[in-house]
Amino acid sequence: MPAWLHYAPAKGWMNDPNGLIHWKGRHHLFYQYNPEGTDFTNQHWGHASSPDLLTWTEHEVALLPGPRETAPYDATACFSGCAVEHDGGVSILYTGVLGDAQLPCLARAADDGLSGFVKDPANPLVPAPPADDITEFRDHSVWREDGLWRQLVAGARRDHGGSVFALSSPDLRTWDYDGVFVDRAGSKVPGAVWECPDYFAVEGTGALLISVIHEDGEEGPAVWWMTGTTSGADFEVRKTGVADVGDRFYAPQSYWTSDGRRIQFGWIRTHQDPTGLGGKAVGAMTLPRELSVRHGRLHCEPAAELTRLRLASTPIPVTGTADLDGRRTAGELVLHATAADGVRAVALRSLDGAEMAVDLAAFAGLDGPLRLFWDAGIVEVFRGGVAGTWSDLRITEVAQLRLDGDTDAAGGRAEVWELARPKRLTGPAAGHHAICRCV
Ligand code: FRU
Repeated sequence: MPAWLHYAPAKGWMNDPNGLIHWKGRHHLFYQYNPEGTDFTNQHWGHASSPDLLTWTEHEVALLPGPRETAPYDATACFSGCAVEHDGGVSILYTGVLGDAQLPCLARAADDGLSGFVKDPANPLVPAPPADDITEFRDHSVWREDGLWRQLVAGARRDHGGSVFALSSPDLRTWDYDGVFVDRAGSKVPGAVWECPDYFAVEGTGALLISVIHEDGEEGPAVWWMTGTTSGADFEVRKTGVADVGDRFYAPQSYWTSDGRRIQFGWIRTHQDPTGLGGKAVGAMTLPRELSVRHGRLHCEPAAELTRLRLASTPIPVTGTADLDGRRTAGELVLHATAADGVRAVALRSLDGAEMAVDLAAFAGLDGPLRLFWDAGIVEVFRGGVAGTWSDLRITEVAQLRLDGDTDAAGGRAEVWELARPKRLTGPAAGHHAICRCV
């Protein structure tokens, strides 16, 4: 049963969001994509776009590995990267993979629909990771500052673990290495390797998100934010926190919309479901999330557009079981403040008795209402700037909700919203690679 609200391609494997950009009135969502199977290999850039963050059209694959004759540097795969506006068009920085080599590459959109990219003759932009002790070097975040392009690449250093490296350029093509932007020791964020840096600044505060590959035997949250002060190529971390308190979120990326909002998508690792349902498509994107920095902390809430899907609401008791009239693929549960502090867990039950319990402990005591979206087995919860993502793809439709609460919940209010199903359009021959716009 395909999700209604969460983007996923019609078939194939999807991981990280890439190259997010709001361009000529459309939100472009590229992503790590294997068009030929449901396993993590053979990464292309898949492509979808939307005028409103709700209605998505899947397009043809936008970036392909190779060909070996003209683009050997990415003949194995085109790994993650970002998009920037440059000279009236869109350019992407991504990681070209050839065997074990992973190096920064540049490509230019061939048209305003961003349907394909022309790879730069200067690729790979640097011949090797820029310092001897760098052991991992991939994924890109690029922005313009004081007349220069700044680039962050994530990875690891021998004896130092997770690190982010800073580079700068006058033209996106020639890059100088400026040193380590931040690392594990400078941030208290764990990890043997860091991946997928995503940086933006608001009113003098820098915000950096990174995804973590833990040391053997180390456990904990996978995606972290840091906020602090950036001076040139150095980031002094003031605060750190966990970007998602669930267990499926990874590799988020964010971008500015034309109305000045910072929208984020992350990859939901549905393949980690113990039931391993298989199916034609694996992986999903989160709902669009809106980021801000409040009191020095990263604040995350569902994008405003999502409330446009609300059709009608029904009040439900704040503890106990509520039968939903009909089996609902998607919906939104809202717990208003008192209820949000008293409800400890919500269980979503399908008609055949399968149950998915979501522990809400991480949201207790935060500000405002709690919003829980469910959608074909994916659950996202938001309260007071904190987000959490879970999945259990067995719960394709929800027939009943059970709210486990204590007496604090009494006197609170809860309601369930029926949500409209946004249109999902599929462009011609999604996942097909005969039409190669890459040279
Ligand atoms: C993170 C990641 C990135 C890499 C990409 C490859 O999930 O491993 O570091 O660029 O996926 O698909």
